[in-house]
Amino acid sequence: MSLSERIGQMREHFLRELSELATAKDLESLKLKYFGKKGPIQALMLELKSCSSDERPLLGKMINDLKEELFSHCEHSLARVKASEMEERLNREQIDPTLPGRRRFYGRSHPVSQLLDRAVDILIGMGFSVRLGPNADTDYYNFGGLNFAPDHPARDMQDTFYLNTEWLLRTHTSNVQVHAMEEIEPPIRVIAPGRCFRNETVSARSHVFFHQIEGFYIDRNVSFADLFATMEEFWSKLLGEKVTTRFRPSYFPFVEPGLEVDVRCTSCKGKGCRLCKQSGWLEVCGAGMIHPNVLKMGNIDPDVYSGYAWGMGIERLAILQHEIPDIRMFTQNDLRFLSQF
Ligand code: PHE
Repeated sequence: MSLSERIGQMREHFLRELSELATAKDLESLKLKYFGKKGPIQALMLELKSCSSDERPLLGKMINDLKEELFSHCEHSLARVKASEMEERLNREQIDPTLPGRRRFYGRSHPVSQLLDRAVDILIGMGFSVRLGPNADTDYYNFGGLNFAPDHPARDMQDTFYLNTEWLLRTHTSNVQVHAMEEIEPPIRVIAPGRCFRNETVSARSHVFFHQIEGFYIDRNVSFADLFATMEEFWSKLLGEKVTTRFRPSYFPFVEPGLEVDVRCTSCKGKGCRLCKQSGWLEVCGAGMIHPNVLKMGNIDPDVYSGYAWGMGIERLAILQHEIPDIRMFTQNDLRFLSQF
């Protein structure tokens, strides 16, 4: 077969192969096969050497024309194949508006924050304003200024995280009482929500950090009746029903008298159940009338002014409210637990 016949034949082969391929990838390999250094077109070029010198220019031109022609076929096919690939993809990826949507994950506030925020809202509604005390404070604000004797057991290293001999992590929010008395004049009607720290063994019932809200009111003629009324109103609003309260004598160095406040069990209404451990009552906070020594140290004259204070643990309340078996669940960040609130 002559060289010019073979050129014609190659064109036919190429066009047949081209018409059969379907993807851009196939086209790339076809190009490689024909136009590569070891491909058939290059082979024809090499054969030119053995042609006679008067045939060579014509045959050379034929091969070059073939090359250009095939190349432009490739370009056209590529455009066609790409268009059909795109069309196929668009058909395949059609959006189905009847499919159910993917559920979005919504975060929400932590159950402790939820309760804290609600209590703060209620108390703001009752005329209290928020003050935040420092988490790290001195011995004076946490103990001394609150009438703790120098040898009071709460000052023990076993109960308190000391940062050095003077500084510590506050064990209660009562430190804000001392700060507030220094900074503002009565009437003082303040709540102090925040974190507290105690050097205790972590267990189902106690943790090394937790939250409290402290509330106190100092003015002329503040009486026990004011504390009583405030407790009734606050606990009824927080628990969403009219509650009965009970005050039991207790001891805190910074109040006199000191009290433990109970509310009638919201679950059994006082009959006795697992929640109230059959007692019919839930312990909700410590409270009392601010000790004259504390007022004096805060430069407030106890002959003119008096005040009440109470302090409540938020985790403890949340545990009661939701019957949570273990305080550690609040800090484990398990979404199966947290997303229930
Ligand atoms: N600070 C006390 C505690 O942490 C609670 C309390 C506050 C008691 C105010 C009386 C008055 O247990």
